[in-house]
Amino acid sequence: MTQSVIPVNLPQNAYEIALASDSLDRLGAWIKSLHLGHKVMLVSNPTVFGYYGKRAIASLETAGFEVHLHLFNDGEAYKTLDSVAQLYDKALAAGLERNSTFIALGGGVVGDMTGFAAATWLRGIGFIQIPTTLLAMVDASIGGKTGVNHPQGKNLIGAFYQPRLVLIDPTVLQTLPEREFRAGIAEVIKYGVIWDAGLFRQLEDARHLANPSHLSNPLLHEILMRSCQAKAEVVGQDEKEAGLRAILNYGHTIGHAVESLTGYTELLHGEGVAIGMVAASRLAVALNLWSAEDDARQTQVIEKAGLPTRIPEGVEIEAIIAKLQTDKKVKDGRVRFVLPTRIGNATVSDRVDNELIRDTLTQLQPLTVNR
Ligand code: NAD
Ligand code: GLY
Repeated sequence: MTQSVIPVNLPQNAYEIALASDSLDRLGAWIKSLHLGHKVMLVSNPTVFGYYGKRAIASLETAGFEVHLHLFNDGEAYKTLDSVAQLYDKALAAGLERNSTFIALGGGVVGDMTGFAAATWLRGIGFIQIPTTLLAMVDASIGGKTGVNHPQGKNLIGAFYQPRLVLIDPTVLQTLPEREFRAGIAEVIKYGVIWDAGLFRQLEDARHLANPSHLSNPLLHEILMRSCQAKAEVVGQDEKEAGLRAILNYGHTIGHAVESLTGYTELLHGEGVAIGMVAASRLAVALNLWSAEDDARQTQVIEKAGLPTRIPEGVEIEAIIAKLQTDKKVKDGRVRFVLPTRIGNATVSDRVDNELIRDTLTQLQPLTVNR
């Protein structure tokens, strides 16, 4: 059995990402080795719990933990303070103590909310991430960004709070809907472009990228490991996004704008990121920061993954430009873009003017079919 342990080297909050097939059944033993208290609250949603809840509980109970359970409703719409308040009520009723642990079993929604609850309950209790979507495995579960949405915007309420362990069992991806898998691949492509040229070449060489059952187990393991390593290395150098960590927002500037303008219902986050990466890449070509050839290589990989490369029908370019001004990354009124410089490297720039954005987005308008 292939097993990798990737360290997240943070001076105050170091932890490991453990990646191994069927590690879900060894969850109890892994947590036991961290010497946390004996009470744990498993937090999931009905979908994920239906698939994997019994195995997680059995492993925890076998290791001697007193297991409590809370299920959030499934979906981004429930990523709210109200949902977190329900978890606080459950924690109170269960008598969780400072040395107790919340264990998030699910995608980014469950992970972000459970992490925020862990950061705030009793001013901070133990927290473990067991990500079950590809996006959560390679991105959301690592690095300590936790939080919930405000009616006026996504992730406006939150805290940096690192987990004590991230446990990844790639076999759970077999039940993940294919579209969700592809959305996660967008973040994997991101790491290849901004950080790890070797990973990018592996993605180029792979025959299929759109479905986990088309990837061999060793290739899936390698893709997961390199992506987690990329995220761990960036976060290890800049935990609170003072500088370098901003490169993880590659594709997210235009991506967030199109996600928001389509009401967060039409596009999955990774699909928005894919469109955003195509846009940022074109901006970088126009600014002579990187080559048209690398731009074409990136587009090819994104297309192979079955991800969108054009702005969705009905989204106006001027609306995107206006939306960019409300981006969290705007500084002193200037929109900041992460732009690739070569495969495996990126920079942050606030020198992209609206005229260039307009020209670039015009190239990415949906293709119209003449009848
Ligand atoms: P999600 O958590 O909504 O999961 C997607 C769907 O897949 C859900 O319906 C879920 O129930 C289902 N699911 C999960 N695992 C499954 C499995 N193994 N088998 C079958 N179904 C499964 O979506 P997501 O893409 O994982 O996460 C998106 C969230 O993550 C957003 O709220 C976003 O803001 C957040 N996020 C956070 C960070 C961070 O750094 N904290 C980074 C990126 C995204
Ligand atoms: N998902 C971006 C970050 O963690 O910084």
